[in-house]
Amino acid sequence: MDRFIIEGPTRLEGDVEIGGAKNAVLPLMAAALLTRGESVIENVPDLQDVRSFSLLLETLGATCRREDHVLTIDTRGVTASEAPYELVRKMRASIYVLGPLLAAHGAARVSLPGGCAWGPRPVNLHLEGLAALGAELALDQGYIEATSTKRLRGGRFRFEPSSVGATANVLMAAVLAAGESDLENCACEPEISQLATALVEAGARIDGIGTPQMHVRGVDSLDPIHHRAMADRIEAGTFLTAVAVAGGHVRIRRCEPDHLEAIVSVLQAMGCEIDTAGDTLTIEVDRRLQPVEVVTRSYPGFPTDMQAQVMAACAVADGTSFVTETIYLDRFTHVAELRRFGADLRLDGSTAIVFGTEQLQGAPVMATDLRASAALVLAGIAAEGTTQVNRVYHIDRGYERIETKLQALGARIHREQY
Ligand code: EPZ
Repeated sequence: MDRFIIEGPTRLEGDVEIGGAKNAVLPLMAAALLTRGESVIENVPDLQDVRSFSLLLETLGATCRREDHVLTIDTRGVTASEAPYELVRKMRASIYVLGPLLAAHGAARVSLPGGCAWGPRPVNLHLEGLAALGAELALDQGYIEATSTKRLRGGRFRFEPSSVGATANVLMAAVLAAGESDLENCACEPEISQLATALVEAGARIDGIGTPQMHVRGVDSLDPIHHRAMADRIEAGTFLTAVAVAGGHVRIRRCEPDHLEAIVSVLQAMGCEIDTAGDTLTIEVDRRLQPVEVVTRSYPGFPTDMQAQVMAACAVADGTSFVTETIYLDRFTHVAELRRFGADLRLDGSTAIVFGTEQLQGAPVMATDLRASAALVLAGIAAEGTTQVNRVYHIDRGYERIETKLQALGARIHREQY
């Protein structure tokens, strides 16, 4: 296994480029299953989750080829319709194949994704939404057996709560269903809007993109997908927060600033100087951060995928901050690990109360999930002494060469096997 060794404290200086968004690429990859032909997705980062999803598509009979951030998916060989437990347990997003396989092939057998580090992550909305389109669903030995003897038909469904994955799955099924569908309380995350836009470019008929109400008029077939994935707003937010925690002056290039407003406003409230020019954000932090109150919300609110990272910033702020998680039951596995740096935090229900500490101390810590791991790396860069972040395979799922990008900004971080 790999771990990171980080020496701190280090200020960060220089330029960093943001890659394509994992959470935009994965649904676009699934959407390729709606078509027969060669789909092309550009700006695809080299991530473990992208490799895992490619493996899943190949298990179904597709062929995937990635050359320099361009991914080509040929679905003319897709016959099988099973997503095996071995693959699904490593990546919950595997469930995205359910809707497209049902819509294009009339059947799908997908392992139920397990739980994750922050409690149960049900998939009831995926199943109920597909049932609203006429799918028959049963659970069999840990697998979702989905069939539609006849072509899926248009229907009406309301997501409660709003769900990124369920919106993607049901939308992809609806575009090939016979008739019209009304989907309510849809997720408005940019990645979902991009999926819908890519589907329309392939011939789908979707109104209300980017709003909670989407109306779909089913079509008989789609052209192959050809789309360029948006910049990863969470990667950009993570690098912005790295500078907030460690201090410094960094230009973050190839961003989509419109997607970063909630993150930028929280960091500015903490005292970070952030300027935007085109696709570049420049952040300068030369004094101790101010405390802040943050509540995670669906887009355009402050993203839950940035909660752990901003908590690392609160850990060194000059005062008491409050970080409230409203999307997941218990997305606080990073709290115990941050305490190992000397951070002073207390959990009160779904709120972490963070009493800022002047200087964190390096420590050996354990990565538990993708974004918590990133928070530990940020804390390690700011901490005095040596930090060991173990199990960095979590980070490799969602960040391409994070240590190389951080090294280029002056961080003293390297990867080693143990
Ligand atoms: C997506 O997960 C992202 N993953 C997550 O990012 C992100 O944290 C999450 O959206 C919220 O923004 C991908 O895009 C691959 P949800 P998803 O369905 O779709 C409940 C990362 O770090 N819910 O929007 O699984 C659920 O329990 C990952 O890149 C149901 O109750 O999230 C949660 O409380 C981590 N029933 C809330 O909805 C369902 O059927 C939002 O979850 C589905 C979800």
